[in-house]
Amino acid sequence: MSEILFLLNGAPVRIGDAPATRTLLDWLRETRRLTGTKEGCNEGDCGACTVMVTDAEGSRALNACILFLPQLHGKAVRTVEGIAGPDGALHPVQAAMVEHHGSQCGFCTPGFVVSMAVAHLNGEHGHDDALAGNLCRCTGYAPIVRAAEAAADQPVPDWMTADRKALATLAAAETAGAEYRPTSSDELAAWYLAHPEATLIAGATDVGLWVTKSLRDLPEVAFLNGVADLQHIERRGEVFGIGAGVTIEALRKAMVEVHPDFAEMLRRFGSTQVRNAATLGGNIANGSPIGDSPPALIALGAELYLRRGEEMRAIPLEDFFLDYGKQDRKKGEFVAAVTIPASAPALRCYKLSKRFDQDISAVCGCFNITVENGAVTAARIAFGGMAGIPKRASAVEAALIGKPWSEQTVKAALPAFAKDFTPLSDMRASADYRLESARNMLLRYFADLSGAPVRVLEVSA
Ligand SMILES: Cc1cc2nc3c(=O)[nH]c(=O)nc-3n(C[C@H](O)[C@H](O)[C@H](O)COP(=O)(O)OP(=O)(O)OC[C@H]3O[C@@H](n4cnc5c(N)ncnc54)[C@H](O)[C@@H]3O)c2cc1C
Ligand code: FES
Ligand code: FES
Repeated sequence: MSEILFLLNGAPVRIGDAPATRTLLDWLRETRRLTGTKEGCNEGDCGACTVMVTDAEGSRALNACILFLPQLHGKAVRTVEGIAGPDGALHPVQAAMVEHHGSQCGFCTPGFVVSMAVAHLNGEHGHDDALAGNLCRCTGYAPIVRAAEAAADQPVPDWMTADRKALATLAAAETAGAEYRPTSSDELAAWYLAHPEATLIAGATDVGLWVTKSLRDLPEVAFLNGVADLQHIERRGEVFGIGAGVTIEALRKAMVEVHPDFAEMLRRFGSTQVRNAATLGGNIANGSPIGDSPPALIALGAELYLRRGEEMRAIPLEDFFLDYGKQDRKKGEFVAAVTIPASAPALRCYKLSKRFDQDISAVCGCFNITVENGAVTAARIAFGGMAGIPKRASAVEAALIGKPWSEQTVKAALPAFAKDFTPLSDMRASADYRLESARNMLLRYFADLSGAPVRVLEVSA
């Protein structure tokens, strides 16, 4: 692989001889003997391997088990060993964990401490969200959250802000070798056209598992996280343009004011660590039938921009998903961006999963219905988990359009779900359950727009 340079607990590290898909977790533990960073699941689910990564955009918590070394080029990594001060002084979250008995067996503790220290640094007080990606089997969350609350008002220690300043002194290293790190989409487009069999790696929250769980070799890869012009979120008039390299967490933050229901659904996309790595482009390009962003984007009427060499084409996002595992993407073509309308007040997104946080959807339904003078004039309804692809409920939409927006119309449209979808039974849900849930989501949407409380966490007896 080519040479990479980053800061590790404040000290520069240069690596020139590791495979491009060596994970940070393996490298830390095996090469550096920094064994405070634990291996639990090795697939992004438990947070035992959480590290802090800092760049010009700020500091964030990431799972080291699905983070490849080249993704760290030019950044600063702080492991649990670097969370305490250089003189051994405890970080306020560490002191609070001791004080509040936040650790029993201790296996999860380093991961919790890093997540808590990053949230503390960023002044985030939503402790449940910050810790949803950290699994503790024996202490229980109450003492841990109490510790996070107790530390929240303590000042940020100097050493936690040192990385950002030190990054300025980190020189860029040479780029050459079996992996490619483009810095612009022009470079990427030219290279991918010449190397169409290469694997593109954006956040690696899917590709990481191909390596750690499926033990796949990826002979030729390109890392997209340095492609600056794929990371834009900008409003142009009534349209939002979102680059493929935008992380799910950046998208969530951008959507809070614009499409709050979409933002709320994204809050339940993986965990903080996963959202900090995962990109919108990866969530679309992987073609997953249970990806959370496509149903919302389709309901919004998103346009997808695909680039191949110098050519750029735009298609409605729903046309990209052809069949299970098959997308409308040519060799050498990559996802560049999506556009969505800047206003859709009737958009609602409902994610149904076995676990509220950090779980893949069993069914995800997104609705965007326009009612004028009491009648439905337009409808966009899209589902994940109901077919081999993210798919519009065209028959249901047709059953609603032109009718009065009433409970009677909604109930009359329910049988159309069986025309649109023949869902599968799998470990997440049975086919019958999925179909019933989808029908109930339309009823819920009607209740929601009528002002009834429908949120699982809001409904009270
Ligand atoms: C613990 C865990 C929890 C998860 N929870 C959720 C969840 O709740 N909801 C959900 O939807 N997903 C979830 N995922 C799946 C995953 O995080 C998402 O699909 C994510 O958006 C993938 O983005 P990425 O940038 O990490 O993609 P990568 O892993 O980098 O790439 C995924 C695929 O897309 C291709 N690709 C990436 N970018 C481009 C591009 N610009 N153009 C063309 N091809 C490209 C890659 O070659 C690869 O085939 C979870 C994953 C993990 C590990
Ligand atoms: S080891 Fe479980 S998230 Fe990394
Ligand atoms: S303290 Fe044992 S798993 Fe959390």
